[in-house]
Amino acid sequence: MRRPWVAGNWKMNGSHRANAELLSSLGDVSIFSDIDVAVVPPTVYLQTVIATVAQSSLSVLAQTVSEFESGAYTGEVSVAMLQDLGANGALVGHSERRQLFAETDKQIADKFAALKNAGLQAVLCVGETLAEREAGETLAVVSRQLLAVLDRHGPEAFDHAVLAYEPVWAIGTGLTASPEQAQAVHASLRAVFAAFDEARANQLRIVYGGSVKGSNAAGLFDMPDIDGALVGGASLLADEFLAICKAAQKSA
Ligand code: PGA
Repeated sequence: MRRPWVAGNWKMNGSHRANAELLSSLGDVSIFSDIDVAVVPPTVYLQTVIATVAQSSLSVLAQTVSEFESGAYTGEVSVAMLQDLGANGALVGHSERRQLFAETDKQIADKFAALKNAGLQAVLCVGETLAEREAGETLAVVSRQLLAVLDRHGPEAFDHAVLAYEPVWAIGTGLTASPEQAQAVHASLRAVFAAFDEARANQLRIVYGGSVKGSNAAGLFDMPDIDGALVGGASLLADEFLAICKAAQKSA
């Protein structure tokens, strides 16, 4: 049985005051004892958020991280710096990073490996655009994105990692993949992984992201290969995020 995983990606939103209010409204997430819950604040707020949730079971992830160790990379933040702050890991390859900041599969694989080598959690995001789905390329695209890491670093690199399927057309648009559409892709991703290592494929948590909210979470979590959610917009609303956690807890 895979332990459900729910994370709130705040994207470029928040302020000291708004973050404190949100965290205080979320309260003690350890009441959700059968799931893992994470928040993903902007890097500049990591330290304060980590201090605020220090006594709770909530983990704190960065939205991205540099693939480089240190040096002349103005504006970047290294894995060692995240570790120094006490962050638990980072997202890699979010579609906004791929599309708006031109991150490549190779770069994403390097970021993934850097996190893994430091013992931090990597959350690899994959997903197709609307044009790719309409062209029937969904599985080719998400498999390529997964294989970019799997081929380079092997299945053992995914121990403690999470794979997030986030169809780009469903992110922030209010359009959600139906539970059946998402399940089909999750099952295919698991099959791609199983060709390398079946036992690890069965352990791997594959979570869905793209307009998840309180009202559609349970239907998604009912699916056999959907092990949680990476939540954007709804994670900024405590009631919505808690409703999603509750649905995940129920599915555990
Ligand atoms: P959304 O974002 O829930 O606002 O669609 C999900 C994500 O980008 O992780």
